[in-house]
Amino acid sequence: MLRFLTFFLFLLQSSPWFNLMPNSKEGTSGALDLGGASTQITFVSDDNIESQDNSIRFRLYGKSYNVYTHSFLCYGKDQALRLQLANSMTHGQNITLLDPCFNPGYTRNVSTADLYSSPCVSDRRILTIPQTIQIKGTGNYQLCKDKVENIFNLSHCSYSRCSFNGIFQPMLQGEFGAFSAFYFVMDFLKVTKEKVSLDGVKDSVERHCSKPWAEVKREAVRIKEKYLSEYCFSAVYILNLLDLYGFNSSSWEDITFFGKIQGSDAGWTLGYMLNLTNMIPAELPPSPPLSHGGYVGVMVFFSVFLLFILLTCWLTFRKPKCLQKGII
Ligand SMILES: *[C@@H]1O[C@H](CO)[C@@H](O)[C@H](O)[C@H]1NC(C)=O
Ligand SMILES: *[C@@H]1O[C@H](CO)[C@@H](O)[C@H](O)[C@H]1NC(C)=O
Ligand SMILES: *[C@@H]1O[C@H](CO)[C@@H](O)[C@H](O)[C@H]1NC(C)=O
Ligand SMILES: *[C@@H]1O[C@H](CO)[C@@H](O)[C@H](O)[C@H]1NC(C)=O
Ligand SMILES: *[C@@H]1O[C@H](CO)[C@@H](O)[C@H](O)[C@H]1NC(C)=O
Repeated sequence: MLRFLTFFLFLLQSSPWFNLMPNSKEGTSGALDLGGASTQITFVSDDNIESQDNSIRFRLYGKSYNVYTHSFLCYGKDQALRLQLANSMTHGQNITLLDPCFNPGYTRNVSTADLYSSPCVSDRRILTIPQTIQIKGTGNYQLCKDKVENIFNLSHCSYSRCSFNGIFQPMLQGEFGAFSAFYFVMDFLKVTKEKVSLDGVKDSVERHCSKPWAEVKREAVRIKEKYLSEYCFSAVYILNLLDLYGFNSSSWEDITFFGKIQGSDAGWTLGYMLNLTNMIPAELPPSPPLSHGGYVGVMVFFSVFLLFILLTCWLTFRKPKCLQKGII
């Protein structure tokens, strides 16, 4: 629920109190969030939002925003991996599962009871599966991509356009900030520091996926094995997800991956901001009695007036009584 509220991020950015993403050209910025269980996309759209569920009209600082937002349950990176594994399961009942989304040489034993315990895949349980399956990584970007594509359903759309699973999405608009797992995974691949092109990122993912597990482990001793082993899958998944949202090699430049905002963790700041938003008014704060223009006008008027007085005084000062008269 808290994650759903991440659209505050870009609204706050347009407020005079915060300036979160120094690179952004415009006032508002969309938000992309990826967790373990779900993922969210939110942005201001000028298009007609055809599905009411995805439309939020929002007032902040006296300005109206037409916001598109959707939260995809089960499409966080952990549940997406389960979806992918559950899909693979239907292709055979071999105890060993060759999986292109893990590094070559990596093995993991997965309890099927645990795999199907998630409501995201529980209805896909097939009858004749063993208690545990052994996953063996083969580390192939292209084959992994083919598998990941299968967890998205593109067969139906009752709107003019959809991202996936029949969910309406207008054309992407503006710049985007991508945080949480979007950032962690891209940061691991070292493609967040300076702008790397989409092709450059794909190359990095391809290189990482094909790297032998022993080598991956040697290079990143401090990262827990479970996380380390899933970077290949997560990265391929992220590229697929962003592709379905509509990002291509040119709009890719509009995404900024960030984990920190003005020196603090995006997650922490986000919580802090969400708390703050309860206090942020929908209308403009009571404005000062004069606008900037009015203020300048009044100052000019008084300056001219003062000059006039001084001039008059100086003219009369030549007659010696002026000052004395003024004082009396
Ligand atoms: C089934 O497992 C055996 C050995 O465990 C392996 O050689 C074979 O390639 C596997 N077949 C499939 C389709 O994964
Ligand atoms: C997985 O289970 C097999 C026995 O079924 C065992 O030989 C192997 O060491 C286990 N692998 C891991 C990574 O625990
Ligand atoms: C895709 O969704 C449609 C409609 O919900 C469903 O009939 C179809 O079986 C789904 N396809 C897959 C591959 O899940
Ligand atoms: C990327 O998509 C935008 C629309 O979102 C389109 O205008 C642009 O031509 C596309 N660029 C490429 C290189 O396909
Ligand atoms: C919001 O901030 C107040 C004061 O800083 C704090 O007492 C409260 O626990 C916070 N609420 C949440 C939900 O974090």
